[in-house]
Amino acid sequence: MSLYRAILEESAPTGLAPTTIELADRTTVWQLDGSAGFAAKVTRGRAAVFVCDKAGALTLDALKECCAPFGVGEAVECDASQYLLVIGLVDATALMALGTDVTASPVEFSPTSDDVRTIVGTLDAYYYGYEDRYRTVYDNGAQLWESAEPNASLRLMIEKRPDIFAGRIIDLGCGEGRDSLYLLSQGYDVTSVDVSHSALARARERAAAAGLDASGFMERDIIYLRGLDAGSFDLAMNMGCLHMLVDDEQRARHISRVFDILRPGGHFVVDHCASEWGKGFFSIPDYAEVSADLVPGRVISRRIRVEDGEKNIGLEVLPYAERSGDALAEEIGRHGFRLVSSTLTDTEAFGSSTMLLFQKPAA
Ligand SMILES: C[S@@+](CC[C@H](N)C(=O)[O-])C[C@H]1O[C@@H](n2cnc3c(N)ncnc32)[C@H](O)[C@@H]1O
Repeated sequence: MSLYRAILEESAPTGLAPTTIELADRTTVWQLDGSAGFAAKVTRGRAAVFVCDKAGALTLDALKECCAPFGVGEAVECDASQYLLVIGLVDATALMALGTDVTASPVEFSPTSDDVRTIVGTLDAYYYGYEDRYRTVYDNGAQLWESAEPNASLRLMIEKRPDIFAGRIIDLGCGEGRDSLYLLSQGYDVTSVDVSHSALARARERAAAAGLDASGFMERDIIYLRGLDAGSFDLAMNMGCLHMLVDDEQRARHISRVFDILRPGGHFVVDHCASEWGKGFFSIPDYAEVSADLVPGRVISRRIRVEDGEKNIGLEVLPYAERSGDALAEEIGRHGFRLVSSTLTDTEAFGSSTMLLFQKPAA
């Protein structure tokens, strides 16, 4: 068994004991090294991880290239020619490392730690945006940010194509789990991933309250989908999460990873904003009033559901993308998917959107 698999499953081979590394704060850079290669997994919090080449120069460009955020449960394996630099993105982040002679120590180096922190700061802003939004909403008394009901477009797809809801299903960017919980309640085998700890915690609580299995809710970045095996899913659903990815390279990486994890003949459902993001949302009752302010980074008033009714709170607009159905068909088709159907939807969840169904060609 590879070290990567062993650390994911927390089944250390005989003779190897995992090392726990507590990242002291959000500013110290740690170097993890091992003479014969090792694997490391985030066990608490979130970390920025740089996979560095021992023979390569530590330039700023090289650092930007090899850096990615890792959430709880995500792991990385280094061979003998590599080492890791790691910084906590949230307080109290911890890692587990597995390998022979693994060392972990705080480091200072050139480029400066400040340069490294600049790269990390950019990652932090993107990923923390979602976590921050869910937390603010809960702190303001809402049980949920989204509605408790499954997406109207999911129900429509189940009605049109019940045959594709079978085998292993993955809900990409599951949020508080409204679709996953519905599918679990219908007896489906569902894995659900998101980057927000707080949204996932809510989803797990709801699963437990409904007597459903909460073990499929995992913190994973849909751009990388680390630790998920090739060909292991029958159906992948991205309900309103792809339009939160605005960088073309990240979108391409996500789509190609979805292609990898699906079995030949498996299906991919995407519900993606087409235009006028925000129009028709429950949280934006008066679109005309705020449309000019729907600019990432700006704070606008959003409506939330609280115990005794509704309330308006200020929330930052997170980056979003709009794409026509044709543009999406072209973008996703480029990765080998075959378009099966394209339906215009207008729902409270995602406004004016297109729901597309793709199939990975059978081998
Ligand atoms: C508009 S919400 C939709 C949530 C859910 N699908 C639903 O319909 O209720 C988008 C979700 O995508 C998640 N998200 C954004 N970028 C992500 C990424 N790179 N990896 C995993 N989840 C991500 C956010 O945390 C958020 O929960």
